[in-house]
Amino acid sequence: MASIDERKREYYYNKAKEEGYRSRASYKLKQLQKKFYIIKRGNVVVDLGAAPGGWSQVASEFVGRKGKVVAVDKQAIAPFEKKNIEILRLDMRREDLADQIFKVAGSLADVVLSDLAGNVTGNWSLDADRQNYLVLLALEACNRILKEGGTFVTKVFRGPTIQELDEEIKPRFQKIKRFRPPATRKRSAEEYYVCTGFKKTEG
Ligand SMILES: C[S@@+](CC[C@H](N)C(=O)[O-])C[C@H]1O[C@@H](n2cnc3c(N)ncnc32)[C@H](O)[C@@H]1O
Repeated sequence: MASIDERKREYYYNKAKEEGYRSRASYKLKQLQKKFYIIKRGNVVVDLGAAPGGWSQVASEFVGRKGKVVAVDKQAIAPFEKKNIEILRLDMRREDLADQIFKVAGSLADVVLSDLAGNVTGNWSLDADRQNYLVLLALEACNRILKEGGTFVTKVFRGPTIQELDEEIKPRFQKIKRFRPPATRKRSAEEYYVCTGFKKTEG
């Protein structure tokens, strides 16, 4: 018999196919939005680790025609039907990352999303380390691309480095809420942080 996780996977896979979303992950952002009302109409949203584009599709609906979504990934992303999504093919490690994003976004972002994830090796502690390194890169980018008071939503992995990560993130925001969207697999170590009230630092 299929496990709960397998059934969940299949359920969201089929739902995404029926509803025209590019990933099962789309439902995680929908669930985050339902709980926290993160993205408002007219917002500028930067989606880091956006391929194949499910979160960007969902964010594009939330921001509406007057808003904008910038979808960033090191992998190619197929063009979207919606006109309010711009695609940027960039590796998070690039030095000019923030400049490139800022140029395309046209202003500071109201919301930075990060569903960034590397290839999983199966070694829990190594995978968690790599994941949380990506979170640090995203946090660094926030300093250049997120407006004061803005919101950062990021995937994190509960592993040996989570405390260090918390120490980096906490001073930079007024409030951090943790959430595991129902679409997350039960066995997964991932969860999402919804960080609000961004405090810019110098430099
Ligand atoms: C879980 S997927 C994102 C799924 C996406 N939210 C969706 O709904 O379609 C994680 C993405 O992070 C990207 N990624 C991982 N490391 C990266 C890096 N160093 N620079 C840019 N993108 C990266 C991967 O290429 C992958 O597309």
